[in-house]
Amino acid sequence: MNIKTFATQQELDNHAAQIFANLLQSKPNAVLGLATGSTPIGLYNALVQLYKNNEVSFKQAYTFNLDEYIGITPDNPQSYSYFMHEQLFNHIDLPAEHIHLLDGTASDAKEECQRFEEKLTEKPLDIQLLGLGHNGHIAFNEPAEALSAKTHIVKLDEKTLQANARFFASIDEVPKHAMTMGIASIMKAKHILMLVRGADKAAIVKQALQGPITTQVPASLLQLHANVTVLLDEEAGRML
Ligand code: GLP
Repeated sequence: MNIKTFATQQELDNHAAQIFANLLQSKPNAVLGLATGSTPIGLYNALVQLYKNNEVSFKQAYTFNLDEYIGITPDNPQSYSYFMHEQLFNHIDLPAEHIHLLDGTASDAKEECQRFEEKLTEKPLDIQLLGLGHNGHIAFNEPAEALSAKTHIVKLDEKTLQANARFFASIDEVPKHAMTMGIASIMKAKHILMLVRGADKAAIVKQALQGPITTQVPASLLQLHANVTVLLDEEAGRML
């Protein structure tokens, strides 16, 4: 694992954006796995800036997003689809038909997961961006005795509902279920880029990167991947 710590948010975001820019420069039709949450917002801003400066183009690129809430329409500001359009897609030259998102309103969620997994198999990920949940989740793969390999439906953990309640009017409005890429869908990416910020994540960062490999800390499975880059701010990295 390649772990880098940054003194400022700006440096972390710029470094992450440069990793994407370098990939797109060497492989314009790269397949990018993207993530939501508050952590990647700075990276997306930096990428939009690079695009505006003509330093990067997404014209031939493809994207896949990790997860989506079930029961929320794409035009709902709480949906991950809405988030991605607001933060990135609306500001770059990525063709709409190159965007792969899970549809949280699909009438058959199981079938939707299968459709998505098939697309992923057709277009293997060159890079997968990840955040880290406070309980060690990656995407919406929650701590459990057993984890699923492929894209699947999950019941969200109480801790996740609490953490994500800040984006909703109340915790009761947070959807209880989501669709998410599985551990194998993520681990098949050629490069995994994880970003983590904040003192509240320091303990889970230590467990994930240096603790035992266990399904109770889904991010610890990343220790088995040959090409992982982790970018941390000083607070998140202070227990390593
Ligand atoms: C959500 C997402 C994850 C994300 C996590 C952390 O639950 N499904 O993909 O990594 O939250 O979010 P944040 O970056 O806001 O701490």
